[in-house]
Amino acid sequence: MEPADFYSGIVVDAYAKLKSETFDPEPYLEFVKAHGQPGLEIGCGDGEPLLDLCAAGLDVDGVDSSGDMVERCRANAAARGLPTQVFQQRMEDLSPDRRYASIYLAGPTFNLLADDETALRALVAIRAALTDDGTALIPLWAPGPTPAAELGVSRSTDDAGVELRYTPVSETYDRSLRTRITTARYERTDAGGTEVADREWIIHWHTPASFRALCAEAGLQVVALLDEHTQESATDDATSFVATVRR
Ligand SMILES: C[S@@+](CC[C@H](N)C(=O)[O-])C[C@H]1O[C@@H](n2cnc3c(N)ncnc32)[C@H](O)[C@@H]1O
Repeated sequence: MEPADFYSGIVVDAYAKLKSETFDPEPYLEFVKAHGQPGLEIGCGDGEPLLDLCAAGLDVDGVDSSGDMVERCRANAAARGLPTQVFQQRMEDLSPDRRYASIYLAGPTFNLLADDETALRALVAIRAALTDDGTALIPLWAPGPTPAAELGVSRSTDDAGVELRYTPVSETYDRSLRTRITTARYERTDAGGTEVADREWIIHWHTPASFRALCAEAGLQVVALLDEHTQESATDDATSFVATVRR
């Protein structure tokens, strides 16, 4: 299975139920207000925070590689009476019908691109999708290895007789490739039985220096690279930082 198809089938159900984070729409709302419309949320999933921005009156489209996620996002938009445009495309193949003044990823979805070559393709495609004076916001994450004590330990949720369970089973952590691959099992149990999906969750991380080099190659200027915790310029050991880039 391709990394871009990770969020499909029962993983989509499990993701919606088990996600620990709910997105504060405010930083993305401010970003689009500051840099202009139309906006595009890449990796919009089932619509968080995209639909809150649309409900606030902003012209923002969504794109996601997963057909199941796009379907859910459209259904969530319809349920809220929003005319949001959502399309299915991989960000590394992004070729939207219009160009955007603001493009953002809400969280470190960019780290799901499994290697530098794919990440570079995505940056080139994001550059092409920006208006001449457009700006993109790309949050990045450099994870440590999953603690050994967490491997084999399940998280689950029970909702109206349906149990969804996530178990990280094993992991390889490669500092030279900057890649963490977690083998995980998703299970969905209801009165009819248990459905199982085994997935490899690949995180490919960047350092501030390696990300700057990719942007230079893609023809993007890095306007800011800020540590999420300190809001200062990210140092090489930063684990969470946000890049603001322009053509
Ligand atoms: C961590 S989820 C975040 C979703 C959303 N913010 C939410 O909470 O509903 C990441 C999303 O990125 C999508 N995705 C993964 N790889 C992608 C790619 N190469 N291009 C576009 N979207 C991708 C997944 O299908 C998934 O919906």
